[in-house]
Amino acid sequence: MRRQMRELRVDPAELILPMFVREGIDEPREIGSMPGVFQHTEDSLRAAAEEAASLGVGGIMLFGVPETRDEYGSAATSPDGILNRATRALAADLGNDIVIQTDLCLDEFTSHGHCGVLAADGSVDNDATLERYAEMAIAQAEAGSALLGMSGMMDGQVAVARAALDEAGFEDVLILAYSAKYATALYGPFREAVDSQLTGDRRTYQMDPANRREGLREAMLDVEEGADVVMVKPATYYLDVLSDVAEASPIPVWAYHVSGEYSMIEAAARNGWISREAAALEAITSIRRAGADAVMTYYAVDAARWLRAEGGLR
Ligand code: PBG
Repeated sequence: MRRQMRELRVDPAELILPMFVREGIDEPREIGSMPGVFQHTEDSLRAAAEEAASLGVGGIMLFGVPETRDEYGSAATSPDGILNRATRALAADLGNDIVIQTDLCLDEFTSHGHCGVLAADGSVDNDATLERYAEMAIAQAEAGSALLGMSGMMDGQVAVARAALDEAGFEDVLILAYSAKYATALYGPFREAVDSQLTGDRRTYQMDPANRREGLREAMLDVEEGADVVMVKPATYYLDVLSDVAEASPIPVWAYHVSGEYSMIEAAARNGWISREAAALEAITSIRRAGADAVMTYYAVDAARWLRAEGGLR
């Protein structure tokens, strides 16, 4: 009866796996604060991506960890930069089996770790950053990325990337807007995952966790600018914002179950305080229930396996 009356079922196609590829390593490296998640070599990335595709996971969101960084994040726009190089290989091999998507932001590539270029006073220069994002959009589209995840939270970023893509003939490349991206404590493990150089914080461009209305407003601005998908991030602490956005949005809404949300479950599960599988599936189900059409989660592959074996929540 419970099975029959269930209102929502999660499909692996609605899960997107964030993955990290690191330049200059010979073996994949497990991320200390994210057990089970790796900085991949280009080879191990392909194998892991193939596994995700074979389990029916909808997409991969790729982040690059370059060997060298500079003030402008030059490696982000070089066709030979690690992210563009790995994207080209994945898109060629697996582009028909799983959606290959890329993170469009400068923080992995800058020596100061901020999501944009800096003005003379050390603050992030919004409009100068937009020019870099437009170049990055073209570089990623040329590499074969099908969907660009704009995670930098610069004002006007979606409009600028859309115009650049259209002008270059990439009308079919989609834009995922990280619309309501909060300055949260939950990105900590991700900073280890990308070997972040950041000192200070991102409070001049990411949102205040206390603001609910602003999340909806940011999402609506991105819809107007031409986004194809809007996203709320993090996910489980922000289900109210997600619900607001899902109700109002005319386009798909995603949520990002971020590194800290993953690591908290992992840590508790390792202590035997919580069931890993049950907690992860409940988190994903709750995010879908609140209105997300799809979920970015480090559990995508495990969840796809659990969903196939058990049909989801008990
Ligand atoms: C920035 C970016 C971040 C995450 C995704 N893209 C970190 C940040 O804004 O500091 C975090 C994702 C996670 O915590 O899993 N490009």
